[in-house]
Amino acid sequence: MAWPKVLICGDIIWAHDETKEMLGPLADIVLMDSPSREDFFKRLQTDYAGIVGIYRHNSSADRIGIFDAELVNKLPSTVKWIAHNGAGYDQIDVHVCKARGIQVSNTPGAVDDATATTALYLVISAARQFSIAERNVRGGKWKTGLAPARDPSTLTLAIFGMGGIGFRLAELARAFPMRILYHSRNPRPDTPDWAEYFPRERLNEMLAQTDVLSVHAPLKKETEGLIGEKEFRALKKGAIVVNTARGKVIDEAALIRAIKDGHLGGAGLDVFPDEPNVNPELFELPSVTLLPHMGTETRDSQRKMEVRALQNLKDFFTSGSGNDLVPELKQT
Ligand SMILES: *[C@@H]1O[C@H](CO)[C@@H](O)[C@H](O)[C@H]1NC(C)=O
Repeated sequence: MAWPKVLICGDIIWAHDETKEMLGPLADIVLMDSPSREDFFKRLQTDYAGIVGIYRHNSSADRIGIFDAELVNKLPSTVKWIAHNGAGYDQIDVHVCKARGIQVSNTPGAVDDATATTALYLVISAARQFSIAERNVRGGKWKTGLAPARDPSTLTLAIFGMGGIGFRLAELARAFPMRILYHSRNPRPDTPDWAEYFPRERLNEMLAQTDVLSVHAPLKKETEGLIGEKEFRALKKGAIVVNTARGKVIDEAALIRAIKDGHLGGAGLDVFPDEPNVNPELFELPSVTLLPHMGTETRDSQRKMEVRALQNLKDFFTSGSGNDLVPELKQT
């Protein structure tokens, strides 16, 4: 058998030594340096021929685009594993991968701290009006327009999606302590007693008690617009919505309407449906805190994510499978 090749698709910034140590003994490491999608497709026959594993970071999308059906269908039949660097893998068509016998892994866990911290910041900023307050100071307006806000310890936080990030946010917010409710497909067995579970049938009951709703659901076809008009209207009047997952998981237009007509008290958004474009209506809403998708922008998380993606490739080469297969590829 020919010595396998791994294609590094997107920059490795922190884990250079680990790349050599972990993959060097197992495969040839080839850097994807195509300036365009067209060039990438052409060189799949030459420089990139015979690749078995792919390390993918979304930074490669600027040059070759996302791993949609067209791209995945053009990958050579030698490709067996795509190790995506990121928790959300909506930039990869996993269904086409599955049909072609290509496994896909992500990096759960590695992002939990950084993303939960981002969500916590948005919760605090929205509850205490810190974003408007800062704009006030910079604009020479001091406390103009700032009404006394709420202490997080008096508020109920509902977590929609109790994966690693939601779980970490629950732990952090409990320190205030906020009252914690959560919804996910199934109750999470390792959740402490202080977090109350609400199944789908009792979702409205949860929302009716919620001061702050934080969204932690992955983006898939089935979750697009998952939280919309109905859910926002079911929230307590004055409630805050925080989103650090993906912009399209919520119906942003419905969110803006509910803030404008005073039903919702504000929002904290790290993600948007059409990044890096942001709906300018949001700029007109003072009670909204905005961040430019900062969820995983820490060197600690980024290193952890790189190593975790590399580990999946290493495990695949040494044992035939990695630990972080995405759910769609686990189903038979
Ligand atoms: C991935 O890259 C594409 C193209 O640059 C961009 O549109 C998209 O927002 C990025 N997704 C994430 C989650 O960063």
